[in-house]
Amino acid sequence: MSHATIDHRRSAQRIREDVETLAGAQFTLSSEAIRRYAYTDVYRATLDYFTSAWQELGFTVTEDPVGNLVARNRPPGEAVFGVGSHCDSNRNGGKWDGTLGVVCALEVCRASAELGLDLPLQAISFLEEEGSGFGQMVLGSRIVAGRLSEEELREGIRAIDDGRPFWEHATQAGYEPERFRECAHILDDLTGWIELHIEQARVLQDTGRRLGVVRAIAGYVHGDITVQGRADHAGATPMDMRLDSAVVAAQTILELERLALAAGSGTVGTVGEIEVSPGLINAIPGRTRISLDVRGPEDDLVHQVVSDIDEFAQGAAADRGLTASYGQRQTVPATPLDDRVVAALEAAARDTGEPFTTMISGAAHDTMCVAERVPSAMVFVPCRDGLSHTPEEDADPNDAAVAVQVMLGAIEALTAQRAAV
Ligand code: HGY
Ligand code: MN
Ligand code: MN
Repeated sequence: MSHATIDHRRSAQRIREDVETLAGAQFTLSSEAIRRYAYTDVYRATLDYFTSAWQELGFTVTEDPVGNLVARNRPPGEAVFGVGSHCDSNRNGGKWDGTLGVVCALEVCRASAELGLDLPLQAISFLEEEGSGFGQMVLGSRIVAGRLSEEELREGIRAIDDGRPFWEHATQAGYEPERFRECAHILDDLTGWIELHIEQARVLQDTGRRLGVVRAIAGYVHGDITVQGRADHAGATPMDMRLDSAVVAAQTILELERLALAAGSGTVGTVGEIEVSPGLINAIPGRTRISLDVRGPEDDLVHQVVSDIDEFAQGAAADRGLTASYGQRQTVPATPLDDRVVAALEAAARDTGEPFTTMISGAAHDTMCVAERVPSAMVFVPCRDGLSHTPEEDADPNDAAVAVQVMLGAIEALTAQRAAV
């Protein structure tokens, strides 16, 4: 099937303009990084930016009961193909992670209109993919997937900034969290879903590819290990009389690295947060909390590492007369993506003549929560030296324009296949 050809230069230009505009001061809480997350003014401004851009295209834009943004060019109930990502950011974020996916979803809608394809489309920008507001990754899409209980939303999930419940923040921002179960309906009309994202690693760059077609996404477990000791005086307490929680935490961090390496098959383990209390130079750490981020394409290996590190921490603590406990924040299983959508993306990528590869995503994405109900896949573009979750993050709008071409070609083919049935 021959695909309509976009004006690459124009698309690359618009993508660059959108990304650079959304890196402006009114769209981020920090001048050193992109920092925007649910229910902040800068996040509201970002949603408003996309809302007017889609309305200019004649799309109807709504927000679901917690704030997932939905833009569609067909009446409710009609079949549409889904595109989108997230436009919140990591707290130390770059301007491309997530935002590029929503910008390119917008560009697919623009190109479809300009080329007279009038493809049936629905774009979604999911709330809180990064977890920067409430410490819970892919929160908006997990709500859509029905993976959260009312109790978690009312009580368990709390804002990093002020400790108040998600429910309260959502209500205060004008949403209706009591209707959170209705969020599932934003996927009802989708015949397929494609998310574009920067790769966030160096495989594409180091192997000279412009595109990645993603066929699966690694699963993950997020949790915390808290070691409880005693906050004695750092100078007066002899070494053999200490209950130093930071020492046990340090042993645990080293053990996590060993366990992840031993598990192999792409399993990874990271301690990104280390919180010491009271956190004073002259006080022995009475309590130390470390975060756990364990991921991999094989769920059983991931869960084995988590259970082994929990056991290790308890044993290491007990050996020194301390205690350690593990609490899980959340887990999302490894997610295979849809063969038909992957094949359509591969065919469209081949048509571009650009070097591409089919790969697994180590990073988590909202597509993990869409894929269990909607045939889904992803497209990656390189990011410079694999840098992400840092203001140094960078990508090339020309690569993104090629990816928009691939998305459009795949959606055209999949929509035509569906019509032919
Ligand atoms: O951490 C992740 O996998 C995603 O970038 N939030
Ligand atoms: Mn992302
Ligand atoms: Mn991210």
